[in-house]
Amino acid sequence: MIELSEVSRTVTSGAGPLTILHPSSFRIEQGRTVAITGPSGSGKSTLLGLLAGLDTPTTGAVSIDGVNITRLGEEALARLRGEKIGIVFQFFHLLPSLTALENVLVPMELAGVADARVRAAALLADVGLTGRGHHYPSQLSGGEQQRVAIARALANDPPILLADEPTGNLDSATGRQVIDLLMHVNRDHGRTLVLVTHDPELAQVADEVIALRDGRVVSRTERT
Ligand SMILES: Nc1ncnc2c1ncn2[C@@H]1O[C@H](COP(=O)(O)OP(=O)(O)OP(=O)(O)O)[C@@H](O)[C@H]1O
Ligand SMILES: [Mg+2]
Repeated sequence: MIELSEVSRTVTSGAGPLTILHPSSFRIEQGRTVAITGPSGSGKSTLLGLLAGLDTPTTGAVSIDGVNITRLGEEALARLRGEKIGIVFQFFHLLPSLTALENVLVPMELAGVADARVRAAALLADVGLTGRGHHYPSQLSGGEQQRVAIARALANDPPILLADEPTGNLDSATGRQVIDLLMHVNRDHGRTLVLVTHDPELAQVADEVIALRDGRVVSRTERT
């Protein structure tokens, strides 16, 4: 379970402090699919970065499975992230000098997984990229790169998958394939999936939609 209590983030801009996320509290139960929506600049990526432990809240606490990650040191946080959280970004963020297989290998090597190469190849097969492991990101289409990024996010079999506009840079047909893949991954493994999206089709498949506006949670809608 992911739990936020009174989490906010204030940054210092030229004009002084700017609160980009006002104190927010909510829980996401294990296995749920949650979409975070809202206009550009409303704080979606900020919120996801806090859930992922990539950023530190200014106030409040983020807990993952009962562990307050806000209090963890850098090393413990990195370890927890490596074990529990997979992240998919809008612009894929693959390492251009590594092949698809090597990109998927990186998190496993960091975690010291045995049989990493075999598992990386299996993950690429799961996302429909059998035989493409030796290709570099520049040799893959956007949708293929995003599928490599999903395979990489799943490398350590994390219970939580976070995705920031995973279909934002894909055409609608390719985006649909990526959505299907994410849903499949969620249902079959009981993973928690938190998606930032502008895409109404993607928001519709979620169990719950959290809407942000101007750095505040303005609504939470459960799908019935
Ligand atoms: N480090 C920072 N310093 C100053 N302002 C920031 C910083 N990070 C984010 N912001 C501002 O906070 C607001 C929320 O940003 P955020 O990236 O979370 O929005 P978003 O909802 O993800 O938008 P988009 O849909 O365009 O990706 C924006 O106005 C952004 O400019
Ligand atoms: Mg964003």
